[in-house]
Amino acid sequence: MTDQTQIAYFTEEASAETVNARVSDDADARLKTVMESLVKHLHAFVKDVELTQDEWGVAIDFLTRTGQICGGNRQEFILLSDVLGVSMLVDAINNRRPSGATENTVLGPFHVDGVPDYEMGANITKAGGRETCRFFGTVTDLDGHPVAGARIDVWSDSEDGFYDVQQPDVQPRHNNRGVFTTGADGKYWFDGIKPVSYPIPDDGPVGQMLGHLGRHPYRPAHMHFIVSAEGFDPVTTHTFVAGDDYLTSDAVFGVKQSLIATFDPVEGGETRWQSRYDFVLQRS
Ligand code: BEZ
Ligand code: FE
Repeated sequence: MTDQTQIAYFTEEASAETVNARVSDDADARLKTVMESLVKHLHAFVKDVELTQDEWGVAIDFLTRTGQICGGNRQEFILLSDVLGVSMLVDAINNRRPSGATENTVLGPFHVDGVPDYEMGANITKAGGRETCRFFGTVTDLDGHPVAGARIDVWSDSEDGFYDVQQPDVQPRHNNRGVFTTGADGKYWFDGIKPVSYPIPDDGPVGQMLGHLGRHPYRPAHMHFIVSAEGFDPVTTHTFVAGDDYLTSDAVFGVKQSLIATFDPVEGGETRWQSRYDFVLQRS
């Protein structure tokens, strides 16, 4: 058998080569690189586990249900990517930063555009809450110089562990969300509530998969931030509540040690808690 016939007809041995040989030389070069690698690794995986016909059927059914539940506010494929660690890997590859710069983590599905701009110091919690918290810190460049005009887009869950968009009939719109802009000193401060840990949406195929794998669906308590400023790389990140039970088992692998923030009780203050976190941006 010549090499040519080996890849013209499908064989178990040369399966990936046979598929990749069909890709046209005119195909987009990057697409060719990505797809050839995907096919190579996918075939290697199928061979590695010697996938049975039944397992193949389960996988097709799983992917079908994953697609069927998508729509509107639900993106189950991103959730699948999140729980497989792929979202964090893509994020890591695309956001390599020098030591000292604030690290990125996952955006998550609950960011909303068009949130109100608040005066510095405003309270973003519109539905009340007992565990009130003052968030504060500075935005600087890598040399410690304050960054003026930095936009801080922040959001968190409620004390019951839900974002406003998950409970449109229960929480006021834009509850626990706000946008702030730093002045010349690069400082920020605002009030909200101390976030709580919560499960990712686990009533679909991804949640079922976690169950079968003996994995819990929880994320450690965190505050979401997108910090951006002219001339700097934007940072999409969280601060995580130090001491949370799920810090080392985040369902979506979003925790980085540098993002763990202390939440300190305040005696006789305007809020019960305070949490300082300083953001460091890299020039673009
Ligand atoms: C979140 O933190 O909002 C989140 C991130 C990934 C998946 C689900 C939720
Ligand atoms: Fe979140």
